[in-house]
Amino acid sequence: MNLLTNHGLLPSCFQADEDSYPAALEKHFYLQKYCGSQFSRYVVDRKTGQPFLLKGVFSSDQQQYQTYILNEARALLELKGIQGIPRLEGLIRSEGGLWLLVQWLPEAQSVLQCGRGRRAAGKLVQQLAPLLAACHGRGICHCDLHPDNLVYSNGQLWLLDFGAALRADIPYPYRRQLSYGFASPDLLRGQGKVSFADDHFSLLILLWVLWTGRHPFGGRIPANMSAALAELKCPDNMSRSDFRWFIAHFRSPQNVSLGNIYMQARRWY
Ligand SMILES: Nc1ncnc2c1ncn2[C@@H]1O[C@H](COP(=O)(O)OP(=O)(O)O)[C@@H](O)[C@H]1O
Ligand SMILES: [Mg+2]
Repeated sequence: MNLLTNHGLLPSCFQADEDSYPAALEKHFYLQKYCGSQFSRYVVDRKTGQPFLLKGVFSSDQQQYQTYILNEARALLELKGIQGIPRLEGLIRSEGGLWLLVQWLPEAQSVLQCGRGRRAAGKLVQQLAPLLAACHGRGICHCDLHPDNLVYSNGQLWLLDFGAALRADIPYPYRRQLSYGFASPDLLRGQGKVSFADDHFSLLILLWVLWTGRHPFGGRIPANMSAALAELKCPDNMSRSDFRWFIAHFRSPQNVSLGNIYMQARRWY
């Protein structure tokens, strides 16, 4: 598996083909292509020519997948108006399922496609910190920060995919499909309460990947973090003090704030 491009981790029974796009919707929205998993499609309104991202599942698909869509609708409504989060343009009930029409971002490119190294990591934090702080300010934890959910389009950073988003401080509600290379140990265990530290942890992993071009733990978050950290070597292009900073916060993500990450990353560019 190529860690940097395959975060889908979807069961192989899911095929992105016409069968997963209802004819009732095809009548109104011309299907251009699938994006990412089988949930998301680039479509064009047949009448107006306006492009959208159309995201949804049939009602017959597993309940779990419908929950993601419902979650995403809720989160996008609660995050309305935040610069850098795509607008929810409409909600459609069809084939018993819920379908989201989302603002289309032209020529979206994953953050990993837009530069690597220390400066790229610093710049990402500069743009992401206010955006994430705005989400957290409204009580929403993204819970699925990884490179494919952060894109540049029209010269700005966008945070996508709120399917896994949850309100902070609630107990983890159900077992979810997660990006195992980026989800915090608490989120993976599903024990305790949802916390902003879950997003901070994913951001730290993402910064390491962007800076070094490698995942710190070979692609998966280890069950025994202390043992894995003892094995981790300081990359050639990282100072000892930055390395120690990463180690300390991989170990205890609840001790790092977004403000801390922002201040540290200001030195990187
Ligand atoms: N609003 C959008 N405009 C353009 N491209 C998008 C948009 N939303 C998502 N994408 C692209 O589609 C991919 C999959 O969408 P996403 O919402 O992350 O769903 P999932 O990961 O469940 O398939 C993203 O990684 C991104 O490349
Ligand atoms: Mg995604």
